[in-house]
Amino acid sequence: MKRIGMGLIGPGFVAAHHIDAVRRLGDVDIVAIAGSSQASAERKAREYKVDRAYGDFNALIADPDIQVIHNTTPNYMHFPVVMAILAAGKHVISDKPLALNPEQALAMRDAAIAAGVGHVVTFNYRGNPLVQQAREMVAQGAARGVNFVHGYYLQDWMTDPNVYSWRSDAAKGGATSALGDIGSHWCDLAEHVSGLKIDSVLADITTVIPVRYSAGASAEAFSKENKGERTPVKVTSEDLASVLLRFDSGAKGSFSVGQVLPGHKNDVELEINSSKLSLKWRQEQQNELWIGRHDQPNGLMMKDPGLVSGEALRYTHLPGGHQESWADAFTNIIRDGYAWIRNGAAMKDKPAPLPTFDDGYRSTCIIDAMLKSAHAGGVWQRVHYMPVGKK
Ligand SMILES: NC(=O)c1ccc[n+]([C@@H]2O[C@H](COP(=O)([O-])OP(=O)(O)OC[C@H]3O[C@@H](n4cnc5c(N)ncnc54)[C@H](O)[C@@H]3O)[C@@H](O)[C@H]2O)c1
Repeated sequence: MKRIGMGLIGPGFVAAHHIDAVRRLGDVDIVAIAGSSQASAERKAREYKVDRAYGDFNALIADPDIQVIHNTTPNYMHFPVVMAILAAGKHVISDKPLALNPEQALAMRDAAIAAGVGHVVTFNYRGNPLVQQAREMVAQGAARGVNFVHGYYLQDWMTDPNVYSWRSDAAKGGATSALGDIGSHWCDLAEHVSGLKIDSVLADITTVIPVRYSAGASAEAFSKENKGERTPVKVTSEDLASVLLRFDSGAKGSFSVGQVLPGHKNDVELEINSSKLSLKWRQEQQNELWIGRHDQPNGLMMKDPGLVSGEALRYTHLPGGHQESWADAFTNIIRDGYAWIRNGAAMKDKPAPLPTFDDGYRSTCIIDAMLKSAHAGGVWQRVHYMPVGKK
């Protein structure tokens, strides 16, 4: 089998997990990484055991040994980096949020489709076997008649005002922080599992910590290393939000996000209530799916190849009781991305769970509606999304 050459631009926190996932595939070579300077790229290349390092992402894009490029730069770099990759006709796997706003994301989606290349956005929670099990139970009617979709995505790593990175800088992270950073994952998961589309939203957003203290250089996510003299920086983006949702079917929903909530590490929960039964999946206990019933005892389905079916079975790699985790789910999405690319990356051949730039664009439309709702004082706001092929 012909091996694929991979390059990565933006070697920070999540890049290590992209590289780990790609190494696990076995038929892809990690050719090079590009960082914000030649020195930082070389340092990261040594750390990740990668041979080539570029201080300019355009040089990596031009490397003839690279066919697939991963983008893990800060949000404000996504548009220029991804558009340059697409202009070179290379396949792209970009982290979320796809762009700073729907206008950028729409241009990226349409450019990717026009280029005829593979385009993936890493909404990695779709890669969990029991997320796919829940999705199948809804799609096949076991959870027919969804009437309520709710949950949360809560973290605590920004509780300390001394945590300051590009994420809290609206020019680099975007106008939104918690909603764009982690709310985007929750909304994608809610739509993917329920099969419904968020039609309108009513959002209330808060900046619990309006002044943070920067040590100058931008620290990596979850890093506590950013020590030294600090200067106060005013933060305008939200670190807490609550949102009411209306789905296209008439179903209702709600969710909360926050990054300043002590004790909540990476606490994602999605619950779907239908007229038949309820389903609840929580990331921190990701090998269990709770099934709620009105007329029978409630149940707990374990991630076990003998119990799950469909895409969930394809995403299950270990016997029951052998815990699979965040990195395994991430790898499932990356594996599907490369399989799609190997098959020619036609939309009709896309593995069903694989998130593309259309999902990334849609996510920016949903988050944009939430910001508009909140800034208007908390009013219902429709999601404006342009389907593929419509003008
Ligand atoms: N899918 C997920 O669960 C997940 C998790 C974390 C982060 N993310 C996303 O991944 C992206 C990166 O986040 P992170 O937490 O890894 O950030 P990070 O700050 O840890 O890493 C970003 C890296 O990009 C580098 N960079 C900056 N400008 C560059 C340039 N011009 N050329 C090349 N490299 C450049 C930085 O030096 C840094 O090494 C963000 O968009 C974020 O939303 C996704």
